[in-house]
Amino acid sequence: MYIEVRHPLVQHKLSLVRDKATGSKLFRELVGEISKFLAYEALREIPTEPVAVETPLETAQCHRVTSEIVLVPILRAGIGMLDALTDLVPNARIGFLGMYRDPVTSEPVEYYAKLPQATDDSIAIVIDPMLATGGSSSAAVQLLKDKGFKKIIFICIVSCPEGLAALSKDHPSVPIYTACVDRQLNDHNYILPGLGDAGDRLFGTK
Ligand code: PRP
Ligand code: URA
Repeated sequence: MYIEVRHPLVQHKLSLVRDKATGSKLFRELVGEISKFLAYEALREIPTEPVAVETPLETAQCHRVTSEIVLVPILRAGIGMLDALTDLVPNARIGFLGMYRDPVTSEPVEYYAKLPQATDDSIAIVIDPMLATGGSSSAAVQLLKDKGFKKIIFICIVSCPEGLAALSKDHPSVPIYTACVDRQLNDHNYILPGLGDAGDRLFGTK
């Protein structure tokens, strides 16, 4: 299942983030802003419990989040979404997964993994701006499942039909939140129209 967040503000920011004239500073800011909107939607259904809070005037019946949120950026580009999500969920634990696409085969190559322990009520949120072939996200979700995470959500900024199909086929229980489903992959497995190489644009490496 995927959810395309078509909020006008998200689409406006997406138009700026796609623009090749947008430099790294603005690109990073926009990635963060879009990520907040996506996470807001993705976390809509997280469990809460009632709690009584003493205001200066009386007791208010409130709700507090009960789940333990675990944010899992896929390095490198997922780092560009992390600060925005820790702003929203300051108590989140954070796990890091290092993966890059082999330039020839486009297969994901894992080079780092450091995750917190999964608990019964953990919700793992995997974050990566790009869902292209789906290889990296599918491998990341598999690794989390192998480590005992049962509830997993994937958030990306730009996706495409090929990546959505692959990730949904491999992990049908993982909802995918995206700002846009683009047209297709090109011969080098880059998303069209896309935004180019998210890692390079975030970190100014090209
Ligand atoms: C990009 C992107 C995803 C992956 C998506 O990372 O950030 O992790 O490609 O492609 P896929 O769906 O075909 O696997 P990249 O390999 O460029 O590494 P980087 O973040 O270090 O730049
Ligand atoms: N990774 C990127 O950064 N961009 C794409 O279009 C595909 C994979």
